[in-house]
Amino acid sequence: MKFKNIKIKQGQKVIINEYSGTIPTTGIISVVGPNGIGKTTLLKALAGLIPYEGVILDQATLTYLPQKNRFYDAIKVDEFLGLVPTNHPQAGWRKQVFKQLDIADLQGKNVNTLSGGQQQRVWLAFSLIQSKSILMLDEPLTYLDLKYQQRFLSLISTASQFCTIIQIVHDLNIANQYSDIVWLLTVKTLLAGTPTQVLTATNLNIVFATTVKIHRTSAGQRWFSV
Ligand SMILES: Nc1ncnc2c1ncn2[C@@H]1O[C@H](COP(=O)(O)OP(=O)(O)OP(=O)(O)O)[C@@H](O)[C@H]1O
Ligand SMILES: [Mg+2]
Repeated sequence: MKFKNIKIKQGQKVIINEYSGTIPTTGIISVVGPNGIGKTTLLKALAGLIPYEGVILDQATLTYLPQKNRFYDAIKVDEFLGLVPTNHPQAGWRKQVFKQLDIADLQGKNVNTLSGGQQQRVWLAFSLIQSKSILMLDEPLTYLDLKYQQRFLSLISTASQFCTIIQIVHDLNIANQYSDIVWLLTVKTLLAGTPTQVLTATNLNIVFATTVKIHRTSAGQRWFSV
């Protein structure tokens, strides 16, 4: 899928100014940038959920998991996940997702009685088991404890071999370690490239208006702190 000259205004203010890009058919794209810069707005437009100017070419099938999710009905976890067809082309994928996110522990419970992290596990399972070409996940790590963060990251690494994950994240270490491509949003610009190309001290210090330090582990891997 490609997008060209995407422009979005909220009221009189231009939030996204003529962004263009390509979304490959596999891999992980991490979208990073400050609060209010337009990350959610861009993904919503690419998902066709809000109006935009510009064009989207070679439209792929996609799903979008919003930043904030609420369950409005007292539906049971298994009934809710049962709404997703079981025809995923990757054999065993649904089972693997449920196992990693410990969905069995939540079955039979009403979704609106679950804790924040438990609900997020259900929402992530709901998104991951869909057979779409692109999975857009807006801050998927929110509410997850370290174990489930790790398991979720492992699941998207597997999923990225047969579809494209576009995730919005604030943790630069995760963006650096788990992405094929990073989209860094700055005022009216989208910088796209590999983590090494995009997540540079110069770019980060300008975009976040704060001093981001880049260190190296003894194995040579970069890590970030503020
Ligand atoms: N429905 C709306 N009406 C008016 N302004 C909006 C609307 N939705 C978003 N905005 C504005 O558009 C800008 C971009 O918002 P967006 O939600 O895309 O930011 P974000 O990069 O996802 O930030 P965050 O990291 O806080 O989630 C913000 O200034 C926000 O106030
Ligand atoms: Mg957002």
